[in-house]
Amino acid sequence: MAHQPDALAVATQNRADEEKRRVALAAAALVSDGMVVGLGSGSTAALAVGAIGQRIRDFGLHIVGVSTSSATSQLAIREGIPLVTTTVPTRVDLTIDGADEVDPAMRLIKGGGGCLLREKIVASVSTRLVIVVDSRKWVGHLGETFALPVEVVPLAWPVVQDRLARLGGDVRLRLAKGGGSQAGPFVTDEGNYILDVSLGPMLHPEELGAQISQIPGVVEHGMFLNMATDVITARGEEIEHIQRETITGVTGTTVI
Ligand code: A5P
Repeated sequence: MAHQPDALAVATQNRADEEKRRVALAAAALVSDGMVVGLGSGSTAALAVGAIGQRIRDFGLHIVGVSTSSATSQLAIREGIPLVTTTVPTRVDLTIDGADEVDPAMRLIKGGGGCLLREKIVASVSTRLVIVVDSRKWVGHLGETFALPVEVVPLAWPVVQDRLARLGGDVRLRLAKGGGSQAGPFVTDEGNYILDVSLGPMLHPEELGAQISQIPGVVEHGMFLNMATDVITARGEEIEHIQRETITGVTGTTVI
């Protein structure tokens, strides 16, 4: 007999879906005429892309989108959002993206969908990086609930796996979805592989990130440290917009 999801799991998923929809709408409202807008990847960012498309249709906004994955490009085209098609521009006004984990200092783990490389490049040139997450994504320390994705050049994956294991992680090569036991490696948009590294709660993510970046064969890791300027999230029935003042480090929260 097929496995039936229990009522609590269904209710939790429905609540998360509703939160995602509300945070995505709130983020899309930050997009204004003339902006270059980074379009993130994953299910929450996809809702924001849909909401931006709706704003273009409703209000005739003129914007240019910078996509972070092939899936997002296809969605943006369907939504009628004009895209920068070749390389990433050196300046993006506002990027809206999701995350797999967010800690109280607005540090992130990203890459659950395998798009972390382009996401990080686009984030790095964004004046504002607005992260949209449902309430399940908050953690005390990065690594608590989610394995850290590390993008590697294919020929180096066993070498990098060995080095990451020596840092104390349980390291798994991500496999393509739907291939069953015969599945080959998951291949990113840039033609690389992903190693998912379970490290447990990270007390010093900056140091660990620097160590991982130094391993030959690593292209990028999924920790986004000191990059998010805003987080829009659900808390109870409220939608909160948390803004980090990037110069003073002071954080302010608005209920919206
Ligand atoms: C894509 O590679 C990721 O960084 C996503 O932004 C992240 O996995 C969040 O996705 P959801 O919004 O689907 O949870």
